[in-house]
Amino acid sequence: MTTKKAKIILAIETSCDETAAAVIRGFGKQVEVLSNIISSQIDIHQKYGGVVPEIAAREHVYNVLPVIKEALEQAGITHNELDAIAVTQGPGLITSLHIGTESAKALAFVWQKPLILVHHVESHLYANFIDNTAIKFPAMVLTVSGGHTALYLMAGHGDLKLIGETIDDAAGEAFDKSAQLMNLGYPGGPLVSSEAKKWEGQKNPKYLEIDLPRPMLNKPNFNFSFSGLKTALLYQLQKDKNWKKRIPEYCFELQEAIVETLVKKTIKAAEKYHTSTILLAGGVSANQRLRQYLVEYAKLKLPNVKVNIPDLRYTTDNAAMVGACAYFKLKAGKSTKNNATITADPNLELN
Ligand code: KG4
Ligand code: ZN
Repeated sequence: MTTKKAKIILAIETSCDETAAAVIRGFGKQVEVLSNIISSQIDIHQKYGGVVPEIAAREHVYNVLPVIKEALEQAGITHNELDAIAVTQGPGLITSLHIGTESAKALAFVWQKPLILVHHVESHLYANFIDNTAIKFPAMVLTVSGGHTALYLMAGHGDLKLIGETIDDAAGEAFDKSAQLMNLGYPGGPLVSSEAKKWEGQKNPKYLEIDLPRPMLNKPNFNFSFSGLKTALLYQLQKDKNWKKRIPEYCFELQEAIVETLVKKTIKAAEKYHTSTILLAGGVSANQRLRQYLVEYAKLKLPNVKVNIPDLRYTTDNAAMVGACAYFKLKAGKSTKNNATITADPNLELN
């Protein structure tokens, strides 16, 4: 008789400007996070208004080994106990990705462990599977981050079909670029969101005078387009001498336009493909308005569909989600034989 043993995975994520390492334990359908360490570079990049790839790569070099060491220590795990090492292979910034993949390859070689290569967007959706064994397939997955906005039909683990995606900017990019137009700083998403709250928080908010488009909302496909929204905002700011005094109102309407478009298309897609579940994933899924709108609108339109939203800790880039994704790959026999030809791929396709 064989007894099933839990799998312990060290996961590494360096696709953009967070150096992250985590240790997860997987058993059956369950994924538990033993440690989740993130060294963020936001403070360093803030003064440039965005991520500077060369600086990001240099910071990853400084941080990657201390972050991995801390992840192992906090989990109380020695490298002998690891079943595999997982790493984000792409997509992302090539200079950043290299630091993670080369570190993972070196450790896998020295410690003689299998290597699991993970797609960044797929790993985001696995944030939903941490401490959650109740997700039913098929699921409609909305992935919204700084680089990606897409809807996937997930029939099971490792079985993703692209249903629609942005034809230009990602939703996170729309937040970031619009924030730049209003000189709010970087990253734009959380800043726009907190400005929008000020408008919501007014005791007697004036009637909203700003009106931004809901791009592609009524198109019969599931694609998105957010670059026109940013341009529409720019035109409105240019026409308004008082825009600096009305930033909360602009941010409120911008957030509503992005959120409404994302949610309504997701619900339409879930309805068309008869999914049991809707999963939200990616950095923009940290947005409180998006989380609330999706839950409320789904309850109204598709009361039998269960909406799952990841824990806030696992929404923006982290390695716990990479570990969760890797665990299901390992279960399916998808670890890679570690060798020198494995490289980071900034344009890695999903599947
Ligand atoms: O997934 P992520 O950490 O990195 C990428 O893979 O891109 O996502 C970062 C994006 C940024 O565009 C950031 O502005 C956005 O997620 N974001 C948010 C919020 N927190 C992060 N957007 C809206 N509201 C938020 N609270
Ligand atoms: Zn991401």
